[in-house]
Amino acid sequence: MGNARRVLNVGAGTGSYEPTDRAVIAVEPSEIMIHQRANGSAPVVCASAMALPFPDKSFDAALAPLTVHHWPDQTRGLREMARVAKYCVMLTYEPSSSASWLTSDYFPEIAVHDRAIFSPAESYRNIFTRVEIRAVPIPHDCSDGFLEAYWRRPETYFDPGARSAISSFARFDAGSGLAQLRRDLDDGTWLSRHGHLLEKTELDLGYRLVIAS
Ligand SMILES: C[S@@+](CC[C@H](N)C(=O)[O-])C[C@H]1O[C@@H](n2cnc3c(N)ncnc32)[C@H](O)[C@@H]1O
Repeated sequence: MGNARRVLNVGAGTGSYEPTDRAVIAVEPSEIMIHQRANGSAPVVCASAMALPFPDKSFDAALAPLTVHHWPDQTRGLREMARVAKYCVMLTYEPSSSASWLTSDYFPEIAVHDRAIFSPAESYRNIFTRVEIRAVPIPHDCSDGFLEAYWRRPETYFDPGARSAISSFARFDAGSGLAQLRRDLDDGTWLSRHGHLLEKTELDLGYRLVIAS
C-alpha cells in the first residue's frame, strides 16, 4: 500500500486483508459477508465492482484480494478501480503457475474450473499502463485457510470445517478426490511423490500480487 492514505477495499468480504492503519472504505455486494465483518472494521458500502459509487480518483489506492475472479465482467471492474484510485493492488491466483499436488493429483476439476475463471496476471497489462507482478509464496503454516494453504498439511483437507471455508469445495463433490488422498497418505504414495515438500518452508503455488496504475 506504500504511503497511500485513502484506501478502497473492493470485494472486501469480511475484511481479512484490510489495512488498519489507514482510512479504508470497503465495498462488498454480499450482505452475508457484510454481516460477518468484525465490529470496528472499516465502513462498508454494499455495492459491486461493476459500478463503484465514488468519484474519479477519490482514493490513493484500491485493493482487491482474491475477488476479481468472482466478478461478472473482470475488465469492467478493474477499469472501475483504475478510475477511482491512483493505483491498484490485486491479489490473484494463476493456476498455470501453480505447483499444486492438490489439484493436479486429486481435484483436477478444480484446476479446470480455476483456469476458466482466473485471468493470467500478465493480462492485467491490457488494462493498466504500469504493471508489476510479484509471486506470493505461501508459508507452510499459513493461517488463512484458502485452497492451497495446507500444501504441507494434507490431513487438514479431511477437516470439514477447513473445507467449508474454501469455495472450490462448495462447487464440486470432494468425495472421490478425498478418498484417493486418504489411500495415498496411508500407503505412502503421497509421501514418495511429495515428501520433498516437507522440507520447504514456503512454496510458489501461483498466488500473484499485481501492482498497477
Ligand atoms: C474469496 S472472497 C474474498 C474476500 C476478501 N477480499 C478476502 O480476501 O478476504 C470474494 C469476495 O468477492 C465478492 N464479490 C463477488 N462479486 C463481486 C462483485 N461483483 N463486486 C465486488 N465484490 C464481489 C464476494 O462477495 C466475496 O466477498
